[in-house]
Amino acid sequence: MCGIFGYVGSRTASPILLEGLRTLEYRGYDSAGIFIPGNAPIKAVGPIDNLAKKIESPLSGTSGIAHTRWATHGAPTEVNAHPHTDMSGSLAIVHNGIIENFRQLKEGLKAQGISFESETDSEVLAKLIGTLYKGDLLEAVRSALAMVRGTYGLVVIANNQPGTIVTARMGSPIVLGLASDGNLVSSDPSALLAHTKDVIYLEDGEYAVVTKDFYQIMTLKGQKRDKKPETVEWDVEEVQKQGYEHFMLKEIFEAPEVIKNTIRGRLLVDKGRAKLGGLEPVLDQLTSLNRLVIVGCGSAYYAGEVGRYILEEYAGLPVDVELGSEYRYKRNLPDKNSAVLAVTQSGETADTLASLRSAKEQNLLTLGIVNAVGSTIARETDAGVYNHAGPEVAVASTKAFISQLTVFVLLTLLIGREKGMTQEEGEEIAAGLEKLPEILEKYLKDTKAIEVVAKKYANYRDAMFIGRKFHTPIAYEGSLKLKEVTYIHAEAYAGGELKHGSIAMLDENFPLVAIVPKDDVYEKMISNIEEVRARKAPVLAIGTEGDADLEKVADDVLHIPKVHPILQPVVTTVPMQLLAYYIGIEKGLNVDRPRNLAKSVTVE
Ligand code: AGP
Repeated sequence: MCGIFGYVGSRTASPILLEGLRTLEYRGYDSAGIFIPGNAPIKAVGPIDNLAKKIESPLSGTSGIAHTRWATHGAPTEVNAHPHTDMSGSLAIVHNGIIENFRQLKEGLKAQGISFESETDSEVLAKLIGTLYKGDLLEAVRSALAMVRGTYGLVVIANNQPGTIVTARMGSPIVLGLASDGNLVSSDPSALLAHTKDVIYLEDGEYAVVTKDFYQIMTLKGQKRDKKPETVEWDVEEVQKQGYEHFMLKEIFEAPEVIKNTIRGRLLVDKGRAKLGGLEPVLDQLTSLNRLVIVGCGSAYYAGEVGRYILEEYAGLPVDVELGSEYRYKRNLPDKNSAVLAVTQSGETADTLASLRSAKEQNLLTLGIVNAVGSTIARETDAGVYNHAGPEVAVASTKAFISQLTVFVLLTLLIGREKGMTQEEGEEIAAGLEKLPEILEKYLKDTKAIEVVAKKYANYRDAMFIGRKFHTPIAYEGSLKLKEVTYIHAEAYAGGELKHGSIAMLDENFPLVAIVPKDDVYEKMISNIEEVRARKAPVLAIGTEGDADLEKVADDVLHIPKVHPILQPVVTTVPMQLLAYYIGIEKGLNVDRPRNLAKSVTVE
């Protein structure tokens, strides 16, 4: 998602635009830019401060538009930054969304002799509006959008109509702000509250023409809409968190949306296959690998461990998983026909990057699963898959982890169907993945039970997490979430390991969290729980809905829906994340910014 903003009024626009962008920076921070009629666009890569440094003194002009970008098409470069202008540079747009038919539109415009500088879909929209602009900005925008398929939150302004902003919404939010000295447009009300609490939300398919003391809302067909302003009661922070108390909670609840965005355009359900455009150039190598080495740190490493289990089980591909901080230093003896896959949300983790470079020195094929478009690791791999999970603001990785697991299911389908997975099995997995967002949406409607259990376990000083097979890495991820968000000492083991020493620690003050879905190692996990109960340790089990037997052996049970085994780790992760969150809240901690941690570990 990106942040878009516009102002038309009686005050100098540039400081207002910059402040609006700073408030919207949580929506994306790859690059930013502003356009004020009569001036050239000013753009900068990175945070808003970099843009501010380019605007030493306020530019003349009492209107303008602004944008802070989370890259989806095209790396975060200055050329790709918004605002984008038409051929003459006298009309500019800022856009949030994805134009699905931008390639066809671009070909048509090129045939008219129009050239392009950037890789973005948004520049095509700017040039298209430019070709249709004959002096009536609204007409030009409406005609252009009638040719567009996709989503947009759009704001447009032109040099020879500096007092007019045209804005339109289809799939990406747009809200008008009505202030005493002018009117504003924004992606969300947070950037308006410094000026007004009187806002009007556009609906999909609506336009608005906005001047400093007037606005008119219409539908795509030109019917006028008489919409009255409403008053925003939230403060800025609440708006940015969309009403959630913390970014971490918001990002946990984004899981269904994130899965939809991760699989969008990549799942061929009727064929039981996956399509990963970013891997197409290396598909032959990928499907004939002798071995895949997955490298990552922290949660990304645990996602890689889940990837190993499912790639070996369902795609027949031998996989090793390595910690970035180890792989980079140890003597690696790779199979010549192997590849190294870096998993990383930020795309900047120093240890993972160093491991990737070490693999490149050994002339291995290097791949990436990365959330941050255009990040260093994304740029240095030979090929890869973007998560499309959107910015993850909380330090503890939640929605990015869910997206990483989802990409591994897509990768398993992609490779597995080339290595013997039947169409029937592929269809079953693909159908299950397509249905997963809806299942999680339903599950997330009532998380009260987790909140109650969290209160009960919040005061222990220790905890042990266990799982087996696909859920061993989830046990490790659950223990990491608990450690980093609540500072409780937590350990994790494969269930079968308890009897080899670690069970000695357990007693009435050392609870066990056991991941026990109804799968082929269920009975073994029940035995684990019984061994632990015999030592009086409290047991919290994560079990399949309807499993009454589990209630008999565990002190507390959190139920989860049953899905295809390859998808079950995605589902079991969510209560782990919520357990850590609610315990952190119970302990009064800063769950979004835990002590001693940084969002991206770019230091060695
Ligand atoms: C996860 O909650 C932590 N914040 C941390 O372990 C993180 O997963 C790790 O630093 C890797 O980050 P990356 O995905 O950006 O490479």
